[in-house]
Parts: sequence; C-alpha cells; structure tokens
Amino acid sequence: MQKLDRLEIIPARVEAYAADYTTKDDALLSEIAEYTLREHAEPHMLSGHLQGQLLTQLSRMIQPERILEIGTFTGYSAICLAKGLKHSGILHTIEKRPDDARLARSFFDRSCFGNQMIVHEGEAEKIIETLNETWDLAFIDADKINYVLYYELVMQKLRPGGWIIADNVLFHGTVLEENLKGKNAKAIHDFNRHVASDNRVEQVMITVRDGLTLIYKKDKF
Ligand SMILES: C[S@@+](CC[C@H](N)C(=O)[O-])C[C@H]1O[C@@H](n2cnc3c(N)ncnc32)[C@H](O)[C@@H]1O
Repeated sequence: MQKLDRLEIIPARVEAYAADYTTKDDALLSEIAEYTLREHAEPHMLSGHLQGQLLTQLSRMIQPERILEIGTFTGYSAICLAKGLKHSGILHTIEKRPDDARLARSFFDRSCFGNQMIVHEGEAEKIIETLNETWDLAFIDADKINYVLYYELVMQKLRPGGWIIADNVLFHGTVLEENLKGKNAKAIHDFNRHVASDNRVEQVMITVRDGLTLIYKKDKF
C-alpha cells in the first residue's frame, strides 16, 4: 500500500477552507496557540483551531458536569472543552510534565473558567484512579501506548450515556499502512480495534486533523 502522509488525509486547502468558515479563536486561545507555536519544543501537540472549535461544540452539546482530560499540554483543548461545562461543572486535566502543567494553570487562571478547572500533575494512570468522580465526558490525548489502559480506566467511571473522545486515531495516516511500523502506530491501531469490538459502546471516527473517535457508552449493552 502507498505510504500516506498527513496531507493526503486532509488536503491543506480543504483544512484552510474549513478554518475560514469556522468561528475564530477568542483572544486567550489565540494567545495560547501563538505562545505554543513560538516557544514550545513540541508545538505539533496542540489541538489547534478547527479541532478546538469542534471540542467546544461537542462539549456544549453534552453540557457535562464532570470532564476528564488526559494530556493537558499547554491548556488549549482544556479551555475549549470547559466552554461546554454546566455552571456547576468541573474539568479535571492530567499532565505529567511540571512545566506544561504550570503553564496551562497560568492560562486557566486568566480564563473565565479558571475556578472550574483542576490540573493534576503526574502520571495519568495513577491519578485517574484517585479521582472520585462520575465522568460525563473524557478526552484521551496523552501517550498513545497507554490509550487502551486509559480507555478502560475511564470506562469504569463514565456514566452510561457518557462520551469519550480519543485524539490522534489516524496517527498521521500510519495506521493505514499494511505493515505497521512504530510502537505508537501499533498502539493506536490496537486501540481502534479495541473500541470497535467493545459492545458497551457505539463510536464514530471523525477525519478532522489527525482523527478523533467519538465514543458513546450505551445505557444497556
Ligand atoms: C498531545 S499533548 C496534549 C495536547 C492537548 N490536549 C491539546 O490539545 O492542547 C499530550 C500531553 O500528554 C502528556 N502526557 C504524556 N504521557 C503522559 C502520562 N503518562 N501522564 C500524564 N500526561 C502525559 C504530555 O506531556 C503532553 O503534554
């Protein structure tokens, strides 16, 4: 099979057109994106404008009381998701790198959702288990190798009728290759198969940016 790159998944001019007709980022989100692109060593990790606006709209539809984000980075996606929180809602986000956790916190403190956002610094696997919450919505966006583990941990505390959104499910197109190379591509392909064979959920893979899967936990299964 032909080797695929990101441009072949979503042509740049299609993405640019979509961005032109999508609500612009507010001042704080623009600042986070610009700061990340300018100062961070791994700016490609940022969700970015199109995906960020999609996360906001999905969160607004769900109107969650409790959100869990795994993989805070510089805080961009957390703020996008927080925009859909109920007034009494709380978003928990987990980040293992102290510098990123601190930076994200500083941005949260300047947003109008700052007092609804809790940053947990450390290893996601350990922290998820300590959080005594029932999740309405979870966003999985940390180390790819642990996606199945995070999914299973989240499912334990996800309410029936709740949603998980998983990022990077196309992994730059590498999951389409016949002979999967690299531990991340293999891990993501395994995750996609895991979700597809799980009869507790229904899911749709959305071909925005690097691929997102929207996973619904059924009431009855
Ligand atoms: C792709 S970035 C998240 C991007 C962010 N959600 C956004 O869209 O702006 C992944 C983040 O997960 C963090 N991370 C990786 N492994 C982790 C782990 N085991 N526990 C907690 N955080 C982890 C990384 O340090 C990185 O900041």
